[in-house]
Amino acid sequence: MKNLKDKVIIVTGGAAGIGGAMTTELTERGASVVAVDLNEDAGKEKVASNPEQIVFLKGDISKESVAKEVVAMAISKFGKLTSVVNNAHASRQKPLMELTEADWDLSMNTGLKGTLNFMKAAYPELKKSGGSIVNFGSGAGLLGQKNQGSYAAAKEAIRGLSRVVANEWAEDGIRVNIVCPLAFTDGVKYWKENFPEQYEEIISKNPMGRFGDPQKDVAPIVAFLLSDDSQYMTGQTLMADGGDIKLR
Ligand SMILES: NC(=O)c1ccc[n+]([C@@H]2O[C@H](COP(=O)([O-])OP(=O)(O)OC[C@H]3O[C@@H](n4cnc5c(N)ncnc54)[C@H](O)[C@@H]3O)[C@@H](O)[C@H]2O)c1
Repeated sequence: MKNLKDKVIIVTGGAAGIGGAMTTELTERGASVVAVDLNEDAGKEKVASNPEQIVFLKGDISKESVAKEVVAMAISKFGKLTSVVNNAHASRQKPLMELTEADWDLSMNTGLKGTLNFMKAAYPELKKSGGSIVNFGSGAGLLGQKNQGSYAAAKEAIRGLSRVVANEWAEDGIRVNIVCPLAFTDGVKYWKENFPEQYEEIISKNPMGRFGDPQKDVAPIVAFLLSDDSQYMTGQTLMADGGDIKLR
């Protein structure tokens, strides 16, 4: 399905995990992708897999200068920017009383500030194209999962910020929606090793009884929100989680 033909999309954390799967899926649907990630080896592999449609920049998405650089790269390589997926987010899982200032800053700077930086840097271009933004939330934020203090706080702040942006930028023709995924990635593998009971609890309660596949289960939902098929949707949270959480 080529529902993203003519779209030029920034994917933060677009080299690996769900971001890497989105880079692949979105290009298969006709888009060009600018992936930004700290993982240079994985980024180079993505470009080698499709040099026509994928470019990569190694950079830390919490820096405002990097957001501006990535937007400039989209314009110089593909002539425009239509969409942004704020996917990258780094955090450490600890009980609240063990959380350090550095732990807090890591989650807020990569998750919340990174999302803000990329939305602001992209705004002038998205305004020209009637663009779409997809930000990433998490069931951990909605549920208040234990050991996720800095992460849950950043994720719910991202949802709050997204709703404000949806209201402010609707008149510019820019839409912003949120996806809360559940998918097996290296990040989840690491978390599972540290919190095996929480992992088993999620599987046992999930109606579909499994973590999703990043490319088959999560990326198509993001693709829908980036496509013109969702042109009458903004400010919404979509759960790509096998029915784990049902929002009302
Ligand atoms: N996997 C899940 O089940 C799940 C559940 C809920 C929410 N999420 C959210 O989905 C998104 C993707 O999750 P994932 O499991 O693929 O994560 P991951 O940790 O597997 O991958 C994240 C990617 O972002 C990159 N990255 C990290 N910090 C960066 C930085 N400062 N600058 C640039 N790149 C950076 C990493 O190198 C990596 O390629 C995140 O926002 C995560 O919080 C995931």
